[in-house]
Amino acid sequence: MTVGIIGLGYVGLPLAVAFAEAGDKVIAVDVDATKVAAVSAGDSYIEDIPSERLQAVLGSLRASRRYADLAQAEAVIICVPTPLTENREPDLGPLNGSARALAQVLQPGQLVVLESTTYPGTTRERLVPMLEESGLRVGVDLNVAFSPERVDPGRTDYFLRNTPKVMGGVTPACLERAVELYRRVCDHIVRVSTPEAAEMTKLLENIFRSVNIALVNELAILADRMGIDIWEVVDAASTKPYGFMRFEPGPGMGGHCLPVDPFYLTWRAREFHMSTEFIELAGKINQQMPYHCVERIEAALNDQFKPVRGSRILVLGASYKGGVGDIRESPALRIIEVLLARGGNVSYHDPYVPALSDFGLTSVPLDDAAVSEADAIVLVTAHPGIDYAELASRAALFVDLRGVVRTPVENLVRL
Ligand SMILES: NC(=O)c1ccc[n+]([C@@H]2O[C@H](COP(=O)([O-])OP(=O)(O)OC[C@H]3O[C@@H](n4cnc5c(N)ncnc54)[C@H](O)[C@@H]3O)[C@@H](O)[C@H]2O)c1
Repeated sequence: MTVGIIGLGYVGLPLAVAFAEAGDKVIAVDVDATKVAAVSAGDSYIEDIPSERLQAVLGSLRASRRYADLAQAEAVIICVPTPLTENREPDLGPLNGSARALAQVLQPGQLVVLESTTYPGTTRERLVPMLEESGLRVGVDLNVAFSPERVDPGRTDYFLRNTPKVMGGVTPACLERAVELYRRVCDHIVRVSTPEAAEMTKLLENIFRSVNIALVNELAILADRMGIDIWEVVDAASTKPYGFMRFEPGPGMGGHCLPVDPFYLTWRAREFHMSTEFIELAGKINQQMPYHCVERIEAALNDQFKPVRGSRILVLGASYKGGVGDIRESPALRIIEVLLARGGNVSYHDPYVPALSDFGLTSVPLDDAAVSEADAIVLVTAHPGIDYAELASRAALFVDLRGVVRTPVENLVRL
């Protein structure tokens, strides 16, 4: 089978490699010439795909900037970004661009699947009409389905093959075509009745996380004021064998998904005269967290008779989560920005993020000098392979925003 993939990012590249490993021919199209060149050279830029794994399938995976190459594919999967505009409304620009370009080369009998996270109705009301500009009719000449991506970058226990894949087709035949396609790379397919149900499923999953993270973050702020250790409370609550699910407090949400996707539904809900209060409230609390964290840092420095201005503050972890280099919407950026604005002498260490060009900073080595010279070390994102408890024991002040250091250490402050 020949499978086309549009968008070679965190979602598209692993998918392209998975189909190639399953024995399919893959044509992977991206507008970004750098990415196309990197994939062609077997040089992976996604942590979950080691370059050796990509190189092993280059015989059957071809990256290109030409949509025309997709005419040979039996199925095309769209994995382009779905960001928000500056006014926090859905930005379907990349989706429109890719669908219109695909429509120019569509062939009768092709299957098109959208994986990008979006509001319910996008596949049927936006994607289908653009594809039909080709003159082909969905359900007659073409099959179209929506199947949300559930990849959790950096995760090793669940990946494409063993994570159930939800899908909904525009027609029952569309769904069956999509099921046949994904059976090649996924062990468990979950059929839903419509693309709208599949679109909403992804949003429910992400909103569920966002709301629960906000809840535990709000309680973390309260616990701090009450002199209660939130981590001890979360640990204790997690011993309940039923009816409780653990969520971690932290410096705020980052990445392309949780800070963005829920607002796709908020926008759509307005058309149905609904305001999505939980989503808005969760967004508000989670967006406040970096500022709350700066206050914690300020208070901890104050206890040592130091102002932020002029203090050497070493931030550990700039990406939004451990084990990945993705800095999109990372709360570390907001924390660094505010500390710099208040006159802090800020440096950072992140083995996955060599430079933060917006701040003119490059990652410093985590050597003895960096640790001993810092007035405060602030753990924002915990990457694997670093002994944070040992670091904390050597620091003048260690602010742990992730609850990683659990051993009693002098000069340790937790969120
Ligand atoms: N990253 C995740 O963990 C994750 C998880 C689940 C779902 N998603 C969703 O999947 C979608 C893609 O996310 P991502 O993280 O892979 O994004 P990404 O930014 O890493 O990759 C998207 C790619 O699409 C390319 N692109 C943009 N416009 C294009 C066009 N018109 N034609 C061809 N290529 C184009 C970009 O150059 C980029 O390489 C989003 O809707 C996202 O919400 C992401």
